[in-house]
Amino acid sequence: MTKVTLTVNGRTVSGECEERTLLVSFIRENLGLTGTHVGCDTNQCGACVVHMDGKSIKSCSILAVQASGSSITTIEGLAANGELHPVQAAFREHHGLQCGFCTPGMVMTAVDMINRHGGHLDEATVRHELEGNICRCTGYHNIVKAVLAANTEMTSGRQAAE
Ligand code: FES
Ligand code: FES
Repeated sequence: MTKVTLTVNGRTVSGECEERTLLVSFIRENLGLTGTHVGCDTNQCGACVVHMDGKSIKSCSILAVQASGSSITTIEGLAANGELHPVQAAFREHHGLQCGFCTPGMVMTAVDMINRHGGHLDEATVRHELEGNICRCTGYHNIVKAVLAANTEMTSGRQAAE
């Protein structure tokens, strides 16, 4: 067993796990944050996406020990002061989910995408960057609409200033 210490959603947390424990398992089983899902365990579906030091990663693709010392944000860390994050609100508004299994990973990927592109996002880019996130329900159309709407919501002030 080895000790892992992380900052998760702004809080320092520690736990003991085996060296082979995946970050997603540590998040779900040691920390009880089950909003991060496991769809494949093999780096394909994107259900497990979290942010590590501000960038989206598939948390089934690294070991918990490799993430030790980093800052992790999970889907539980996005809402603030009882308000959904704009990307979460856009998924609700634009019906970007059905069963919801892929949604936490989709939302975390979308937040990072919007942050990186600084408002300059078009449909083709959203579709391209969502390639690593699989949804078996929606056909993606409303997910793309939601991401574009959130992009406008989150960056309209920034674009006006440019
Ligand atoms: S569970 Fe990580 S990519 Fe599918
Ligand atoms: S909403 Fe069901 S997998 Fe995406």
